[in-house]
Amino acid sequence: MEIINASYLISKPDVAQCPAADRPEFAFIGRSNVGKSSLINMLTGNQRLAKTSAAPGKTQMINHFVVKSRNSANAKSVAEWYLVDLPGYGYAKVSQKNRKSWGKMIDDYLRKRDNLLTTFVLIDSRHEPQAIDLEFVNQMGEWQLPFAIVFTKADKMKPGGLQRNVEAFAAALRENWEALPAFFISSSTDKSGKTEILDYVQGILKS
Ligand code: GTP
Ligand code: MG
Repeated sequence: MEIINASYLISKPDVAQCPAADRPEFAFIGRSNVGKSSLINMLTGNQRLAKTSAAPGKTQMINHFVVKSRNSANAKSVAEWYLVDLPGYGYAKVSQKNRKSWGKMIDDYLRKRDNLLTTFVLIDSRHEPQAIDLEFVNQMGEWQLPFAIVFTKADKMKPGGLQRNVEAFAAALRENWEALPAFFISSSTDKSGKTEILDYVQGILKS
């Protein structure tokens, strides 16, 4: 898949206020500061599209972007879809009340958004499996929502450590699930994973 263009559309705090569900949609979620907004910018080739920050908790609403793309295998096949940047979960410095309402906003969005085809759940590749990530992924499985996993910040890891963390995460999932989701390894810094993730989106758009 090649991106023709990507532009910001709108930010809303509630799924009921999101744009009409009239295009295929793909969302990006994960712990606060895991690199969601950076990955979106890397994938779309626009460093200024989604706002990123070194301080966690930057993205606070459901942010819709419109993407126009071309199928690399068929230049005539052009698609328009929504890409969604979501707030991170697990940000410690948010009050209990705020955390609850953020949780509800995300859960409602994931479960009620009819055109949502796949959610990419981002996991920081630098860490061993974290309870909060496993809980989130297990919840997605229980809700039977389609998702794929993207390990982020791979540029910060040596190959051995990266492989160990990825395998440990897969092993933790196998305790609950027979079939594992698609896994991707990415770095917004060196652009690794870009082709694989975009081609995965293309495959879902076609089916
Ligand atoms: P919230 O919106 O606060 O939940 O964060 P986010 O998940 O959108 O993370 P964001 O993209 O804002 O990135 C957080 C920090 O991690 C920034 O300082 C980024 O520059 C850095 N970062 C993101 N992706 C990568 C990566 O692939 N490699 C490296 N080295 N740093 C990254
Ligand atoms: Mg963000």
